[in-house]
Amino acid sequence: MANTPNRPKILIAEPVPEIAINKLQERGEVTVAGRGNLNTEEKLINALHDKDAFLSMLSNRVTRSVLTKSKQLKIVANYAVGYNNIDTSAAAELGIRVANTPDVLTDATADLAIGLMIAAARKFPAAESYLRDGQFTGWEPLGFRGTELSQSVTGIIGMGRIGQAFAKRAGSFGTRIIYHNRNRVSRKTEEKLNAVYEPDLEKLLARADILSLHCPLTDETHHLLNRKRLALMQKHAIIVNTARGAVIEEKALADALVSKKIAGAGLDVYENEPSVHPGLLEAPNCILLPHIGSATFYARKKMAELAANAIIGVLQNRDKSEIPNLIV
Ligand code: GLV
Ligand code: GLV
Repeated sequence: MANTPNRPKILIAEPVPEIAINKLQERGEVTVAGRGNLNTEEKLINALHDKDAFLSMLSNRVTRSVLTKSKQLKIVANYAVGYNNIDTSAAAELGIRVANTPDVLTDATADLAIGLMIAAARKFPAAESYLRDGQFTGWEPLGFRGTELSQSVTGIIGMGRIGQAFAKRAGSFGTRIIYHNRNRVSRKTEEKLNAVYEPDLEKLLARADILSLHCPLTDETHHLLNRKRLALMQKHAIIVNTARGAVIEEKALADALVSKKIAGAGLDVYENEPSVHPGLLEAPNCILLPHIGSATFYARKKMAELAANAIIGVLQNRDKSEIPNLIV
């Protein structure tokens, strides 16, 4: 393709499904960086100084300083639905667009949360290591008893798209659904999901046999599940987090698991990824996954298309209304 001087320059932070790379190569000069190449502010600023568009990962911290120093930059398209890694107010002030990848990963993430819920409720980690350790000597009438979903109450914090998709799935197991959200969802949605709104977060925590987090990470939700609130939960409760690690005070969760004040947890996300709090690594009945909520072939391909389309739309000066996944 002709390398004319006004072909826009596009940086992709890490290899993504080819569909995005191919689409973007039709519109500009594409550079694909590699893991770790953009992991400091300085490296990111250097890489972005002449770029018009950036397809970012949630591991890239797109700060005010990065945005201010990237003079050519017109759009940051985050390869994720969550965008707490981007300073969106700075972007808005600087006239830089920000996009995310909603909807297409809703089902994949809700599926994973269900997997974690069942794995924690039925003690998969302990039961599996028991077998692998050669301790399985016969069927045990008293062994590995866990939570029966059909007899439980599931509390959901965050009733957006993913929270609702989780509620739909969890409801099909017969668990009763209560939820807490900044805003109550419509009566119609509540009826469809058989979900009961609980305006008092503390009450929800005290009632839930299973708790699943589906809220975005914001100043309000940072360490929402702190030591004090964890103490309100029942001893047999299970916590699932496929949202953002920093919604939970990890040390407090690890302590609660070790001291058996909480029965188990299924986590896909961590406050300081890629490091995992050492307390969680040691905690019993805690399933730890490496942030794979959206990791299905379908979701990752659709995310690639959405991110690429937003970049193309912005580079073509399309109206905001024509690019549905713009946040800013
Ligand atoms: C992944 O965590 C995402 O926000 O898409
Ligand atoms: C994410 O898509 C959410 O709104 O839960």
